[in-house]
Amino acid sequence: MMLEIKDLKVGFQNEVGPATDVVHGISFSLGKGETLGIVGESGSGKSVLSLATIGLLPKTAKATGEILFNGEDILTMSERELCKLRGSRIGMIFQEPMTALNPAMKVGSQIAEALRLHSNISRADANAEALRLLEMVKIPDAKRKMHSYPHEMSGGQRQRVGIAIALSLKPDLLIADEPTTALDVTVQAEILDILDDLVTELGIALILISHDLGVIARIADRTLVMYRGNEMEQGETERVLRQPSHDYTRKLLSALPRRARAGLDVMAPTTLGDSV
Ligand SMILES: Nc1ncnc2c1ncn2[C@@H]1O[C@H](COP(=O)(O)OP(=O)(O)O)[C@@H](O)[C@H]1O
Ligand SMILES: [Mg+2]
Repeated sequence: MMLEIKDLKVGFQNEVGPATDVVHGISFSLGKGETLGIVGESGSGKSVLSLATIGLLPKTAKATGEILFNGEDILTMSERELCKLRGSRIGMIFQEPMTALNPAMKVGSQIAEALRLHSNISRADANAEALRLLEMVKIPDAKRKMHSYPHEMSGGQRQRVGIAIALSLKPDLLIADEPTTALDVTVQAEILDILDDLVTELGIALILISHDLGVIARIADRTLVMYRGNEMEQGETERVLRQPSHDYTRKLLSALPRRARAGLDVMAPTTLGDSV
């Protein structure tokens, strides 16, 4: 397994008293070419879990358990080892793509810079690779967009650039934390389909985090349902949707628009059929 998380607990030290846990013993594993969806309402501990996985927890956090990435425990790595890991093996995509972009730099140059930071290639080769990445994330008119600034692009296009930058490192694992939450529904669907294609084409593993079960259902092979730092259930996405074993999952399902539940909406999992 590429990623194996075993009984992960994360707490935050506060000024008074002992650390209070916000992640209470989560376990899952993920292999090459697989997508795991993590769903739960705001405050469930989804982002804390993803930050732990990329070794970016704040100093005030205390984590126990194991996060084995290709057999090595991220929780015991030095800052130097973690930097190397984040710079090459694990990529991250955030809700607001602007946070990952430099507003004062043309997007083509940003991707090329990211490439040159991690490999010893010429400017011309980096530019050619940047264009290839923009085409890979299906930016329309990519050649011209190389010369655009982030603010000249739509939110969906900026998120595509964010994905291109994350891909420039050729990661084995991509973590996308609410990557479509700031986008409108049709653009959400496009971004999810791009992520799904990348998993298939590049054989990377994807952790897709969302508060929206409709988003998870669209592309996740397996789904982990979290509530207040606890696992409610996990399993094949289709099983979780058709036969949820927990009331909380049923609550998330019933919160989906009726048309989505009936499998008619663009964000609906087609596998839902008429059983829901
Ligand atoms: N740096 C931090 N210090 C203290 N508490 C935090 C910190 N980051 C997150 N938390 C707490 O951890 C819990 C889970 O947060 P988070 O992982 O962001 O939830 P989600 O991403 O599911 O919305 C929340 O109660 C939040 O207040
Ligand atoms: Mg979050």
